[in-house]
Amino acid sequence: MEKIAVMGFGVVGSGVVELCDKNSASIRRRAGTDIEVKYILDLRDFPESSYAGMVIHDFETILNDPEISVVAEVMGGMEPAFTYSKRLLSAGKSVVTSNKELVAGKGAELLRLAKENNVNYLFEASVGGGIPIIRPLHMCLAANEISEIAGILNGTTNFILTKMIRESMPFSEALSLAQSLGYAERDPTADVEGADACRKICILASLVYGRHVYPQEVHTEGITRVSLCDVQYAEDWGGVIKLIGRARQLPDGRLFAMVSPAFISHESQLSSVDDVFNGILVRGDATGDVVFYGKGAGKLPTASAVVGDIIDCVKAEGTICSLCWADSAADTVCDWRQAPAVFYLCCRGRKAKAAASALFGELRFLHRAEAPEEECAFITPERTEAQLEEAKKQLEKEGVELCSAIRVLDY
Ligand code: HSE
Repeated sequence: MEKIAVMGFGVVGSGVVELCDKNSASIRRRAGTDIEVKYILDLRDFPESSYAGMVIHDFETILNDPEISVVAEVMGGMEPAFTYSKRLLSAGKSVVTSNKELVAGKGAELLRLAKENNVNYLFEASVGGGIPIIRPLHMCLAANEISEIAGILNGTTNFILTKMIRESMPFSEALSLAQSLGYAERDPTADVEGADACRKICILASLVYGRHVYPQEVHTEGITRVSLCDVQYAEDWGGVIKLIGRARQLPDGRLFAMVSPAFISHESQLSSVDDVFNGILVRGDATGDVVFYGKGAGKLPTASAVVGDIIDCVKAEGTICSLCWADSAADTVCDWRQAPAVFYLCCRGRKAKAAASALFGELRFLHRAEAPEEECAFITPERTEAQLEEAKKQLEKEGVELCSAIRVLDY
């Protein structure tokens, strides 16, 4: 019998406890022993819950209990999760987590600490909710050179965009719905402004390229400025708008990473990833494109990944199955402004069409029903991000109002 502790009894934590209970027979078969939740650490009491008797408020109880060798940290946020995780690993206990903020910010350090103490730090649930992506990347695809990884990494924003596209639902209504379904972060700014997707692409890039990519190095744009007009223009272009996190290695070894909304063609596999689903495309030199798809958020999908990691820790006791990546230098990630890009731009003004044509040459113009007469939308030719920034400024100088600018990607 293996006794474990769960730190945090929110959406994911309650899912972990429920799943350990509900699927105890199959978990026993796979782990080779019973797995029983002994403690649930939370600031709150849960008198109505059938698990109320397991709730404790003192972290030291878990730390000092020799019966506990695996702990699920599903509290979220940097502190106290970081301090608790360090102390548990240093005390020789394995930690599994869904905490992408912590893995993206401190992964290199925690993985090193786990290795030094001969225990595991596993984080399958930190990216893609219930989709297996971390383990496939560092095990099944380990023979590949991975040139690129790109994906829809945030369930909340994908849910919102899907509602906007399919039902013309206003942004705020779709966000409230995502919150009530338990998809969104405590502060949904992290979802809608792209920070959550940024943390996830940082984890994937660190894993694939072996050096820690920090969120502050990654240019990030969210979906708060995407309008229903943009959705209509994307449809006319032949695709949909998705929030995409992407990373690739440049020939000189540096990394490029970015999170932004993007036009994605209907022909791309990512275009049909809707609602709370996530889709992650991995481009390997041996495999070609491999796409992972499934529920990227929510109680039981995320708990599934956490409990999978708990089972692995129990099975691997005494051996290290977590990976390691190195800490990184300041120049690991290249300047995003030097990367090539293609944009959809939507402008307004009497001279908009002429000014755009003079600036870019022949353009592909887009159309939507009921567009005001002075509105013009088009796809730019490929330039560097920096050149396109200059071009946008130039248009504004000529009295053209820039309403939208969204990248066009070809995954
Ligand atoms: N808020 C996150 C999302 C939860 O919507 O994807 C899962 O990481």
